[in-house]
Amino acid sequence: MSRRNKIYEGKAKVLFEGPEPGTIIQYFKDDATAFNAEKKGTLAGKGVVNNHISEYIFTALADIGVPTHFIERTSMREQLVKAVEIIPVEVIVRNIAAGGISKRLGIDEGTPLPRPIVEFCYKSDELGDPLIAEEHVLAFGWADEIELEEMTHYALRINDFLSGLFAGIGIKLVDFKLEFGRLYEGEDCITILADEISPDGCRLWDMKTGEKLDKDRFRRDLGGEMEAYQEVARRLGILPNADITEIADHQNKGQKQ
Ligand code: TYD
Repeated sequence: MSRRNKIYEGKAKVLFEGPEPGTIIQYFKDDATAFNAEKKGTLAGKGVVNNHISEYIFTALADIGVPTHFIERTSMREQLVKAVEIIPVEVIVRNIAAGGISKRLGIDEGTPLPRPIVEFCYKSDELGDPLIAEEHVLAFGWADEIELEEMTHYALRINDFLSGLFAGIGIKLVDFKLEFGRLYEGEDCITILADEISPDGCRLWDMKTGEKLDKDRFRRDLGGEMEAYQEVARRLGILPNADITEIADHQNKGQKQ
């Protein structure tokens, strides 16, 4: 691990140069942050669970025709992905009011929205990922009109698919965040889904009990984060018998060597 070239270290992942040009290894850490990294913690085994959940979702999305950067999972915490130029815009899809939209617009958390709402935030840690309008995206050249249209189209398609997938395992998909990238192929440049989809960037509520199965457990000091993430994985049929704490321990030692 230490012999590989680190390209970037983010809040929840480390990116290393991949084995072939145009590839990257995404390493999923156990670090958790919230409120623009004001709150920090470690959730033992989170990286393992998120790596597997994201693999499952990206594979399913590729099957329905959404282009993604995912190539293959290469270990408990790592996946091989296509290198892309990340578009500095976070795309949020909301089905039910929670978090930011509830605060901004005074809508009670849990209120179903009249239709799915797509929002954009400017990807900037310094500024705290501020909410922006499409006009900002275009005026500042963060993405062009075609990319905006594609991101919106894919976001809604992913929302339809994931809402059904999670409903099938008794979970409401309240909202989630996506990141897209530009993949250059010769003269062409295509927009593809990048980053990850995991309980770190989604709100997932149990349909029967309303229990939160996502990062709000960490943000709001509810505890039981790993049990919740593992429950999502278990319902998806991932890592059914794994002792995550043991895996987390082993793999983390590996990274520090
Ligand atoms: P939002 O309610 O806008 O923000 P907050 O997390 O501060 O309540 O978030 C909507 C969804 O998008 C939520 O599931 C968290 C996710 N998200 C991220 O994962 N990263 C981000 O930088 C932002 C802005 C949102």
